Amino acid sequence: MKSFSLVSCLSLVLLAGCNSAPPEPEKPKYEFKAAATTQDIMESLIAHMAEDIWNSVRVEIDKDGVHDYQPQNKEEWQEVAYAARGLAEAGTLLMYEGRAEDYGDWAKYVRQMSEMSLEAAKAADDQDPDRLLTAGGNIYEVCTNCHTDYLERVEMKRTGGSAPEAPVTAPPGAEPAKGETK
Ligand code: HEC
Repeated sequence: MKSFSLVSCLSLVLLAGCNSAPPEPEKPKYEFKAAATTQDIMESLIAHMAEDIWNSVRVEIDKDGVHDYQPQNKEEWQEVAYAARGLAEAGTLLMYEGRAEDYGDWAKYVRQMSEMSLEAAKAADDQDPDRLLTAGGNIYEVCTNCHTDYLERVEMKRTGGSAPEAPVTAPPGAEPAKGETK
């Protein structure tokens, strides 16, 4: 009889029809807020993804001569494309409330970083080392430009002017803990 009761249950559900479909869950009231400092995002995500791009196509010189490196197979190119698209997306994190310094130059640098990263991703899709190298150089330039304009100011704000005492992982706006070291 077990199977019979299962069938009748199912048909009851079917008969009940569309009207009794469970309501869509509401958009939660929870606000997604910055949980890490700009410093954290730089060190945890951005620097690693950028390194993956910069290391993918490179020239090394040692006692045995000049060595050119580039991704060797589809999987390695794919890894570079992932890193580049990750870096492009990480720009969004820098525009979260609490991390966006302003909507002028800050936003401009963030946008440039994402655009250059997408260029790098497309170069990796096409397995084009020259374009990847160029895109990598452009990314590096954006990192440097933003650091020139903002790094010191934001670091001061985070540390209250005393870098060695500041916790590295405090959420934005938190008071730097006294006596805590990096
Ligand atoms: C929109 C501006 C902006 C862009 C673009 C940017 N950064 Fe940063 N970066 C900062 C700021 C501001 C800090 C300092 C944060 C702090 O000290 O609280 C920082 C800090 C860092 C640090 C830590 C440095 C230290 O002395 O502790 C690293 C590493 C870093 N960035 C890497 C990168 C790389 C790599 C890129 C490019 C792929 C990049 N950043 C792009 C704004 C930016």
